[in-house]
Amino acid sequence: MLAPVLVAYSTRTGSTREVAEAVAKDLRLARLQVDLAPMRAVKTLDQYSAIILGTPIYVGELPKEIHQFISRFRIPLTRRLSWVFVLGPVLGNPDEFGLAAVQAGTELARSPWFRPVEVKILGGRFDAQLLPFPFNLVRLLVPSQFKGVPSTDFRDWDDIHAWATTVSWRIKPIASQPVEPQFAPEEILIGESAFLTSHENP
Ligand SMILES: Cc1cc2nc3c(=O)[nH]c(=O)nc-3n(C[C@H](O)[C@H](O)[C@H](O)COP(=O)(O)O)c2cc1C
Repeated sequence: MLAPVLVAYSTRTGSTREVAEAVAKDLRLARLQVDLAPMRAVKTLDQYSAIILGTPIYVGELPKEIHQFISRFRIPLTRRLSWVFVLGPVLGNPDEFGLAAVQAGTELARSPWFRPVEVKILGGRFDAQLLPFPFNLVRLLVPSQFKGVPSTDFRDWDDIHAWATTVSWRIKPIASQPVEPQFAPEEILIGESAFLTSHENP
């Protein structure tokens, strides 16, 4: 019996949830058992073999849900392998992926104990109609790069599927081990977390 994997996400307009659903589906195709949930709905990490967190970037910041999640589950997160995927670039500008990696890295560095195996930067989706308050107002009132931008969708589904499949290969041997204790924190801290953009292959 394989221990389940958790795919938890935060979203404002649904695009990160859709990527989380695709990742969960790919992990299931790889015969892993997967729970998919909004970060806020997660009560415990006890049963999980590995954790995948999906989040967007807004105005250079990660949503407070992911910061709260990382703080709430500080101890179990140091004992499990985790991955993060971050949706950001929506303007088709080649510098955006690098900027998003810096933004995500700076934000995640607020919780130095959290050392994901990899932080994957993915293209995002921009749909002005779906923007909730206050982002709809920010977009209208603050002169920004989003002013006048039409709807865009830079999610590269081939890249997302390839990434999810690669992650499933890493998780499979872990999922067949007893869940806790799995990894001493120092084992997790061996290497630097890898930051990959969707232009790079793992
Ligand atoms: C007001 C606003 C600000 C944004 N700021 C950033 C940003 O600073 N960096 C970035 O890479 N993407 C930024 N994005 C793009 C979002 O991360 C992208 O649209 C993402 O797919 C949204 O995810 P969600 O649908 O799950 O909420 C911004 C989008 C909006 C609408």
